[in-house]
Amino acid sequence: VVQSVVKKAIELAPDAWMPGGKPDPLGRQKHGLVGASVSRIDGPLKVQGDARFAAEFALEGLVFASVRYSTIPKGRIASLDTAHAEAAPGVVLVMTHRNAPRMKPMPLFGSAQKAAGGNDLPILQDDRIHWNGQPVALVLAHTQEEADHAASLIALDYAAEPATTSFEAAKAKCTEPATFMGQPLAVAIGDAEAALAKAAHRVDQVYRTPRHNHNPIEPHAATLLWEGETLRVHDATQAVSHTAWSLAQVFGIEEDKVHVTSPFVGGGFGSKTLWEHQVLGAAAAKLAGRPVRIALSREGVYRVVGGRTLTEQRVAIGTDEDGRFDAIVHTGTIATTAHNGMPEPFILATLNLYGARNFKLGIDAAKLDMIANTFMRAPGEAVGTFALESAVDELAHDLGLDPIELRARNEPERDPVKGTPFSSRNLLEAYRTGAERFGWAHRSPEPGMRREGDWRVGMGCATATYPYHRMPGGAARITIRRDGTALVAIAAHEMGMGTATVQTQICAERLGLPMESVSFAYGDSALPGMVLAGGSQQTASIGASVVAAQRLLVAELLKLAGNDTPLAGLSPDEVGGTNGGLAGIEHPDRFESYASILSRAGRDEISVVGEAPMPLETEHWSMHSYGAVFAEVRVNAVTGELRVSRFLGSYDCGRILNPKTAASQFKGGIIMGLGLALMEETQFDERSGRIMNPSLAEYHVPVHLDVPAIDLIWNDIADPHAPMGARGIGEIGITGVAAAVANAVFNATGKRVRDLPITLDKLM
Ligand code: MOS
Repeated sequence: VVQSVVKKAIELAPDAWMPGGKPDPLGRQKHGLVGASVSRIDGPLKVQGDARFAAEFALEGLVFASVRYSTIPKGRIASLDTAHAEAAPGVVLVMTHRNAPRMKPMPLFGSAQKAAGGNDLPILQDDRIHWNGQPVALVLAHTQEEADHAASLIALDYAAEPATTSFEAAKAKCTEPATFMGQPLAVAIGDAEAALAKAAHRVDQVYRTPRHNHNPIEPHAATLLWEGETLRVHDATQAVSHTAWSLAQVFGIEEDKVHVTSPFVGGGFGSKTLWEHQVLGAAAAKLAGRPVRIALSREGVYRVVGGRTLTEQRVAIGTDEDGRFDAIVHTGTIATTAHNGMPEPFILATLNLYGARNFKLGIDAAKLDMIANTFMRAPGEAVGTFALESAVDELAHDLGLDPIELRARNEPERDPVKGTPFSSRNLLEAYRTGAERFGWAHRSPEPGMRREGDWRVGMGCATATYPYHRMPGGAARITIRRDGTALVAIAAHEMGMGTATVQTQICAERLGLPMESVSFAYGDSALPGMVLAGGSQQTASIGASVVAAQRLLVAELLKLAGNDTPLAGLSPDEVGGTNGGLAGIEHPDRFESYASILSRAGRDEISVVGEAPMPLETEHWSMHSYGAVFAEVRVNAVTGELRVSRFLGSYDCGRILNPKTAASQFKGGIIMGLGLALMEETQFDERSGRIMNPSLAEYHVPVHLDVPAIDLIWNDIADPHAPMGARGIGEIGITGVAAAVANAVFNATGKRVRDLPITLDKLM
């Protein structure tokens, strides 16, 4: 058995993913666990109500927080009277800028390695107002209802100052090139405008996407207490280490004096980082000397937590007679603030999707007085692919070419901007298999040709893409015990996407143990590593850390095993985990179990911490996940009602580690993409800078009746340069979807909608 497992492992092993490193075949074997449809290990806990979320910790002396939000976009608090609130039943504390402890602003995301703040504005430090909805006071009381009531009794008057709350005004007044983490978001290769002017065919259009707000099922919440000098935070976060470090900066204490845990998160999508609520909760807990639960209301999430900002994008493509791209222009403007970490980088997908000799890509940021916007699933690509993939469809129609054929003609051989080879790119294959399964051949090339009763029917497709990332600083601890069980620990996150399950599969496979023998500990800032659950990169980052730790573990175990073992004389590189112990890769008959090695050495357990190598693979290769997505829509000729009747995603994301959890990620992303296409829109009052629809009653997301059966296929081609052969799958699902729907709407009706969402008034 050992022999055949090891042989198979060697056959299936992709190339070494570490530049300069060595292949490590046993580590990437595929003996049944990796690639298996394992159900979520946290599933039973959740359906039985045994998973405790951030707002569910019942602590001795717990008090409840309620926040008051400003109602003007800019100015200062002119008068403030808290007497009635303080006298209200159950009130423990009313905290305003007058009595809040001195705190530094949150370190803005991107300003330091572990900076997690959504903005870097003062929090209750002065009477200044920076956006409509800014927290201006917090009440603690014995119950949530008492706190909410008392907060409503605070008398506030403002001295308003002129604010920039309209996008057009901001564009005219204060626009500057956008940067992301210090890097400019601009590319110029050749002379794209000149090439465009000379092109045989061209498309040149402006596409618009509105603001979006975050609506995870679990609104943002934290339960906080000070244990002596240590701040203890039961949080709902996608960044425990970053949050701990950032809170330490805010309160001017050592990083190890903040302990953040987040075992369960009810969805994050980019929003569950550090916002005012954790800081306010910690400050109030300090003043009151009691544990505090701060659970934002749904409206509170809209006031305090940023969303996706609006974009206005120009896409121009110039081609030769045969439709080969010569120039690609993708420029435009976003709305943002002066205290912002996320410029909605909509050009990202355009950096690698198509070959061309001339590129002009760039983003301008118009600065408004509004809540800082932030990351939302595929920030950049989600809305950027709407513009780019709509433009490609427009061009195909003008050229009289099938849109898939036009894409095939412009498939680049190397990364067109970076010049590096692709690590693995099978986009056209994804189109071929997707088109066949979807019945693309039945699409009429001419729009408006298919009608069933009052319904016009059409099909559209688009490319989905999201980059592979792996972040530096990954470390993992592996402990093997004499009873044959293992504990793998890393400060990573489970927000419902299946991380804990997939990582248990990966660890069990690497260690050569059954899944039941492996525990995966995560969601705790005290654990090694600092893996952010963002950028679709957790799986690769954790995997690389586990690979590194497992290699160390093998070396340590060989030392313990000494000479009196069948493994004697083998180097760590020649040995891997299998069947509850270690075996030689070339000599699988040479085997000793973990239990045997440890008991011979008189040890109960062995523990190592391994650190992942720097993520150099993305310097050597252009690494991206891809997909071809197909939509069929029905548009009512009388009412304009739009229904997506069929949807298929055909993905090229490297090896799929768990088809069940992967399918959920793709589907969830596609559903979010349908929301982007059909209904999601933050109503922002441009006179006051206030968000007017801060509730799920008025901010529409897809419900079951809006979502057709979603068909999914993937090619499962391992990426030789990614750990486990797997690229990210968390965010790609939302990309391409809006364009596929818009392109299908055009095919059904002949109407090209260039501003989202595609509501029925735009189809009448
Ligand atoms: Mo994602 S927007 O990187 O959480």
